[in-house]
Amino acid sequence: MAASIALITGASSGIGAEFARQLAPECSDLVLVARRRERLDALAGDLEKEFSVRPHVIAKDLSREGASAEVFAETGY
Ligand SMILES: NC(=O)c1ccc[n+]([C@@H]2O[C@H](COP(=O)([O-])OP(=O)(O)OC[C@H]3O[C@@H](n4cnc5c(N)ncnc54)[C@H](OP(=O)(O)O)[C@@H]3O)[C@@H](O)[C@H]2O)c1
Repeated sequence: MAASIALITGASSGIGAEFARQLAPECSDLVLVARRRERLDALAGDLEKEFSVRPHVIAKDLSREGASAEVFAETGY
C-alpha cells in the first residue's frame, strides 16, 4: 500500500472519531489529536485491533498558541 497519512483533530468523540474509523482502513498512518488522552488511547486500541494501523495519539489542547506546530513536530513528518 502506498503511504497515506490522515491527521484527525477532535478524534476523541463525535464526527472526528467517526472520521478516524472511516479512514483507518485506507491509511498507513493515522494521527489522532484531541485533549482527552484516555479516549484517544481507547479509540487507537480499537482501530489497531480491527485494522492494520498503529495510530499515533497526540493529546493536545489546540487552542493553545503554538499547539499546531507542536503537533507537526511530534508527528515527525
Ligand atoms: N456531529 C455532527 O453531525 C456535525 C455535523 C456538522 C458539523 N458538525 C460540527 O463539527 C464539530 C464537531 O462536532 P461533534 O459533534 O463531533 O462534537 P464533539 O463530539 O464535541 O467533538 C469535538 C471534538 O473536538 C475536540 N476538541 C474540542 N476542543 C478542543 C481543543 N481545544 N483542543 C483539541 N481538541 C479539542 C474534542 O476532544 P477533547 O474534548 O478530548 O479535546 C472532541 O474530540 C462542531 O463544530 C460541529 O458543529 C458536527
